[in-house]
Amino acid sequence: MKQVIDEKEGWRAFPPFPLALVTIPGSPPNIITAALIHVFSFDPFLIGVGIAPSRYSYELLKAAKDFVVNIPTKELLDQVMFCGTKSGRDVNKFEKTRLTDIPAKEVEAPLISECPVNFECEITQTLETGDHYWFIGEVKVIHRDVNFSRENTLCYWAGEFRLPGPLIRRR
Ligand SMILES: Cc1cc2nc3c(=O)[nH]c(=O)nc-3n(C[C@H](O)[C@H](O)[C@H](O)COP(=O)(O)O)c2cc1C
Repeated sequence: MKQVIDEKEGWRAFPPFPLALVTIPGSPPNIITAALIHVFSFDPFLIGVGIAPSRYSYELLKAAKDFVVNIPTKELLDQVMFCGTKSGRDVNKFEKTRLTDIPAKEVEAPLISECPVNFECEITQTLETGDHYWFIGEVKVIHRDVNFSRENTLCYWAGEFRLPGPLIRRR
């Protein structure tokens, strides 16, 4: 039996999304936790991040040419929560989380050293869709730790953090 539910409840019915820490150039650079993140194209390789206009990161992104999508592991959950609940308007998130910023190769936004994957993205398009504004970036450089395992990355939706879960089949 199925029930018809309204959109206030219905958005929760999505499976979890991948979770990222997005770094944005500024003085100091900022970090925002984002679950609204997706691959928008493989060729060119485009990644989009949905950011609400109330975020300090939105202000920074409007003035920025680039951002970096950093993929955190479960060991970074406290830092993920910090960057997802505190604003860069009030705190320096690199300083407070003790995450290490390292220079990117081709963009101004820094990489987070502790994240095993970093996508350097140059903003090519923006989309005003509704209560989130999509910043779409062309991936210029990808850094991946030699010991990277997808199993250790994080997913999030509707207030729940999860690991990706076991592999059940290959396509
Ligand atoms: C797990 C998690 C996921 C989040 N995903 C998003 C997102 O995709 N887009 C967004 O605008 N805010 C998202 N947020 C909220 C921002 O991270 C939060 O408002 C943050 O404090 C904004 O920081 P800023 O003001 O420095 O930009 C998320 C928060 C958490 C905890």
